[in-house]
Amino acid sequence: MKFKRMPIEIEAPEQLGYDTILRNLSESSVTDRRLGELKVDLSGVLLCYGDHRGSIDLREKIAESGSGLHADDVLITAGASNALFIVAASLLDKESHLVVLRPNYATNIETPRAIGCDITYIDLAFETGFALDLERLEAAIRPNTRYVSLTYPHNPSGKMLSETELRAIVEIVERKNCLLLFDETYREMAFGPMLPVAAALSPRVISVSSLSKTYGIPGIRIGWLICRDRELMQLFLAAKEQIGISGSMIDEYVGYTALCERGKWLDQTAAILADKRALVEEWIEQDEFVEWVKPDGGCVCLPRIRPDLRISLPSFYDRLYKNYQTYVGPGHWFELPDHYFRLGFGWPTQTELAEGLSAISAAIREEIK
Ligand SMILES: Cc1ncc(COP(=O)(O)O)c(C=O)c1O
Repeated sequence: MKFKRMPIEIEAPEQLGYDTILRNLSESSVTDRRLGELKVDLSGVLLCYGDHRGSIDLREKIAESGSGLHADDVLITAGASNALFIVAASLLDKESHLVVLRPNYATNIETPRAIGCDITYIDLAFETGFALDLERLEAAIRPNTRYVSLTYPHNPSGKMLSETELRAIVEIVERKNCLLLFDETYREMAFGPMLPVAAALSPRVISVSSLSKTYGIPGIRIGWLICRDRELMQLFLAAKEQIGISGSMIDEYVGYTALCERGKWLDQTAAILADKRALVEEWIEQDEFVEWVKPDGGCVCLPRIRPDLRISLPSFYDRLYKNYQTYVGPGHWFELPDHYFRLGFGWPTQTELAEGLSAISAAIREEIK
């Protein structure tokens, strides 16, 4: 495999230094939480090698989220990113073909590229509301397509699929005899009804998710993949064992504790996101130079500076960061032109968000030629 660092990681706020950013509108999660908020006592945690699949308590809790799922259908991984790596490394090689959504969370594209498989991109466009065309998706599948890789709620646009569409896609991959990798990391942040856990719909589906985004605890690296196909699960377990044998006992215990309070956390997150989303919507409506496709879920959206506006984009981002200590995710993080930017509204406080939005408006105006 040939690894290359991705712009989204090189330029991540934690790499730049959180202390250099006052208004951080680049994150894709709710605000990070402190361990103290979980009131977890770690003194009894035995620091052994745990069950290689992840603790049974944690896997049972995760399995509860999908109808008919069992703890044995769940493999705990070091974040959703690790699960995506395991799936790609286990299923793809130079002879295989992949169909993947773009823009996307970068690892969904970059690991298959590092493997060197053949890739067909399903590009979503602002002009069509970032909608997924199922006919195009089906036409892209070839006899050697190993899997179709989708992310919903979508990062970076926040667009959703309907349950009917999800079920139609599952029917397509079953008929075409390939698999569906469904990155549902933002599933529990849908503004309307949540999609079902995709892996519950068919043994041909692999669901991936984590506690990083909705629960605001990416500092414990707890993610998972879910698949009802036992042979595939053995393959994924083999990959996990070769990467790191088993997971962190501390992370698994903290993750389990957080999931025990799932209902409370989800209610809290939904209320916070609704207020912050309203703030962004108001801003978009009153700023004539920015436009968006309104998101349906998650805590990010993908607005753009009007493409007909003549401004220097490198200078805009530089000004935004240096003069206003405001940070957003520029389009190139997602292989898009830089007049697009990912705006994360779940992480900053209301005040930081409001100030950050005003800063974007001010920096655009200072750059107009
Ligand atoms: C869609 C999506 N999948 C996976 C990840 C990986 O997150 P983690 O490894 O922290 O679970 C991210 C992080 O931004 C993401 O947005």
